[in-house]
Amino acid sequence: MSTSRIPGPAYLEDRSPGTGALPPRAWYPESDATRLGLGGRWRFRLSPTADAHDEAFARPGHDTSDWAELTVPGHWVLQGDGAFGAPAYTNVAYPFPVDPPRVPDENPTGDHVRTFDLPPDWPDGGSAVLRFEGVESCARVWLNGHELGTFKGSRLPHEFPVGALLRPTGNTLAVRVHQWSSGSYLEDQDQWWLPGIFREVALLHRPEGAAGDFSVHASYDHRSGLGTLRVDSEVPGRVTVPELGLDLATGESAVVPVEAWNAELPRLYAAQLATAGERVPLRIGFRTVAVEDGLLKVNGRRILFRGVNRHEFHPATGRTLDLATMREDVLLMKRHNINAVRTSHYPPHPAFLDLCDELGLWVIDECDLETHGFHLTDWRGNPADDDRWTPALLDRAARTVERDKNHPSVVLWSLGNESGTGRGLTAMASWIRERDPSRPLHYEGDPSCRDTDVYSLMYADHAEVDRIGRRADGGPEHRARLPFLLCEYAHAMGNGPGGLAEYQRLFETHERCQGGFVWEWIDHGLDHPRFGHAYGGDFGEELHDGAFVCDGLLLPDRTPSPGLTEYAKVIEPVRIAPGDGPDSVRITNLHDFADLSGFLFTCTHEADGAGPFTRTLDVPPLGPGGSVEVELPPVPRPATGEAWWTVRASLAGPVPWAPSGHTVAWGQLPAGATDPTDSAGSAGSAGRPALPRARGLAPRVRDGLVVLGPAAFEAGTGRLIRLGGVPVSGPRLDVWRAPTDNDRGAPWTPADQLARRWSELGLHRMRHRTDGVEPTADTLEVRTRVAPAGSALALRAVLRWSADAELLRLDVTVEPEGDWELPLPRLGVRMGLPSAFGRARWFGGGPGEAYPDSRSAARIGLHRLNVDALGTRYVRPQENGARADVRWAQLDDGVTSVRIEGDPAFSFTARRWTSEQLAAARHRTDLTPGDTVWLNLDHAQHGLGSASCGPGVLPEHRLTAEPAAFAFVLSARTA
Ligand code: GAL
Repeated sequence: MSTSRIPGPAYLEDRSPGTGALPPRAWYPESDATRLGLGGRWRFRLSPTADAHDEAFARPGHDTSDWAELTVPGHWVLQGDGAFGAPAYTNVAYPFPVDPPRVPDENPTGDHVRTFDLPPDWPDGGSAVLRFEGVESCARVWLNGHELGTFKGSRLPHEFPVGALLRPTGNTLAVRVHQWSSGSYLEDQDQWWLPGIFREVALLHRPEGAAGDFSVHASYDHRSGLGTLRVDSEVPGRVTVPELGLDLATGESAVVPVEAWNAELPRLYAAQLATAGERVPLRIGFRTVAVEDGLLKVNGRRILFRGVNRHEFHPATGRTLDLATMREDVLLMKRHNINAVRTSHYPPHPAFLDLCDELGLWVIDECDLETHGFHLTDWRGNPADDDRWTPALLDRAARTVERDKNHPSVVLWSLGNESGTGRGLTAMASWIRERDPSRPLHYEGDPSCRDTDVYSLMYADHAEVDRIGRRADGGPEHRARLPFLLCEYAHAMGNGPGGLAEYQRLFETHERCQGGFVWEWIDHGLDHPRFGHAYGGDFGEELHDGAFVCDGLLLPDRTPSPGLTEYAKVIEPVRIAPGDGPDSVRITNLHDFADLSGFLFTCTHEADGAGPFTRTLDVPPLGPGGSVEVELPPVPRPATGEAWWTVRASLAGPVPWAPSGHTVAWGQLPAGATDPTDSAGSAGSAGRPALPRARGLAPRVRDGLVVLGPAAFEAGTGRLIRLGGVPVSGPRLDVWRAPTDNDRGAPWTPADQLARRWSELGLHRMRHRTDGVEPTADTLEVRTRVAPAGSALALRAVLRWSADAELLRLDVTVEPEGDWELPLPRLGVRMGLPSAFGRARWFGGGPGEAYPDSRSAARIGLHRLNVDALGTRYVRPQENGARADVRWAQLDDGVTSVRIEGDPAFSFTARRWTSEQLAAARHRTDLTPGDTVWLNLDHAQHGLGSASCGPGVLPEHRLTAEPAAFAFVLSARTA
């Protein structure tokens, strides 16, 4: 007889969610008196397979003295300096063969053991539960040698009754955690695979008569201003809300005048649920969510999501986040005008939702479900459409909804992400609707929208959003009546996204388009001793998706990227724009609920060459949607240079998420402008002085050099080698940039893979030929042809130099030759300065980087920064650091400054490595400063777009190869 052995215990690979856990219930922060946190150092043993060791380790007294230790909560792959395996990153593909519900024999399994005593003041009587907030992906639990059960559902809570098993001292808790289980098929989210007990474990005392599960129903009628409160509780009790004078029995309703909760004014009422044995603190927010007249409304008003997708991430601890980090996330969001979070793609740590209630964010709470990897097998075997998996799906829905149902911030439930379509999803939807009819449902993956109350897409381009907004998108009748949102858009990978302002315009134009959620909040770059921050492949994974895991608005260390600064500007809840008359502004309140009484308005006058001054502005406390035109104080038009007004809306007093004075919104307009159409942001605005002519001197040829005014050129090549006393190299025509992630595009949209097409064309290896170096009476003309090897395409560039005693002027004309089908990455000149020229000052857009389709946040003014601070440390090195709309820029070494003025306004980039070095680097740590500051002076750059996962650059931001003319005036003077 042949024997066959199925390795590993059966619970790993059955489809059930587990055994032994209590039904889920509402979460609330427990008091320290009744909670014993079991975090800290645990004994740990890692095995390569699920059944390498028997269960003897779970017995009290088992000798674990030769085991390693690790910290709980935590992921084992991020501890032990590599001794406990390594993280792995895949986006769509499962990192194991797709054969549901089976998993490979290679199944890293971590045995965790911890002993504990009950505190001396641990309450007598009652019972106790052991609570796990999150374990990836499957756990089996023993207390004092008794098996409590098993569970799956990594980011979901599980509780086990343990009262009878507890001893005053010497309790042994043993947890076996398997990296892979049937549950892994339901958890194919685009992120690192990080096994472990990554959220808290705690023992909770449950007194006799403790509250069980309870549901707070707190709605608001915007017509009457009345709130209705009812708390349903498994265990009867009384509910008190002192501020409202309420004292009512559970199950009873009270109707009282209240202030409603919304994300802008997150009014919470402190309350208490008292049962015979327990007092549960509640924070009640009254609000009503409804889909009405094709719109998603809260308290009777259409809301606009200015959202982000948030994965839980910390560069050192992965998905283990402490409270301070969660708070930092919410504060950063609020300070950047973000008002909504989609908890992609699983319920977050429960305390995060408390912060959203308290500080005010709309939340789409998403179930821990993604089966995206079945996309690669044409969705064959997709658990979301297989009844055998439905109990597991329903368990996930229930654990999400029951845990989080009492948060006013949660306004939509989401079934999960990218799980195809199917009966399991429909079953989840029916269960959720029945259990909580007060919240609409979201799911993006089913175009029929049969289970949802909102129509949601990811990465739709502007044109499609416009069609949907105009209700010209066709589609099923049911869907056509639904409000629309972009659950993901504007892929913030590397430098980008571009096109945010254009999306916002659509959201503000079409009532049906209720905003979106940028993908995503933070780069998941893990701390790495060699690479700084690691991405897919850096841990030697066989299968991985590279830097696609770094696509956030925050760098891994939570430094805001320029993309976040841009987003904050684009979604400002107060619009400040030039008014109809000269020197007037139009101020519009774009909040959905708040008036402007909390803001202080100021206007600051800043002129090129004169100190700024600030005045306050009188602005009425406009209600939502209100708009007013306000005159600015009269100022004389500047005699020379340009002058700008910057009008700011700042917080008049401190709020829980920002100090007094924090700027929420701003706008600019030229000061003293006579022509109101000559308005903000564009180059050559009112008062802009013309570029000096710098002419008159004749070139002289001497010792192989051409000397012209302050400059010396190589006679043979026409290359500038000295300006004043400063040795320089170049400038010469430059059209290439180190490809951004968005330039590279996505594997599934080859036409948008511009970086590949640029390199096939050879733009990264242009050859320069000098066709003539011709001194005339008062110019030096250098004619060049710049072209890639193997191609007949070329750019003919003429550099015409002229000078007076101090100033050197360069007029550039560019003529493309041949049929250029591709846009150029950039068009300008590049030159080198000695490395000591490390301090920059400029008048133009700043202080941060800006590109053609991401420049709303660039404020025209005088800025200064060191060269080392000009760049952005994107995890995968790529083009960065350009400053846009620059009128003049200067770099100095403390003694001499090299100044460049431009016409039209230009973009400048200064860095200590070349574009080629930047492009060759895989990590920031590959870049080391050389002996040159490389300066790109660009007439134009191609936009950024969002093609790393979404639409490319809009036509108006493409840099088409066409004839161009631009000019600079250079000088070297005492700094
Ligand atoms: C979406 C997905 C996200 C993420 C994103 C690309 O399709 O829902 O989880 O993978 O694309 O970064």
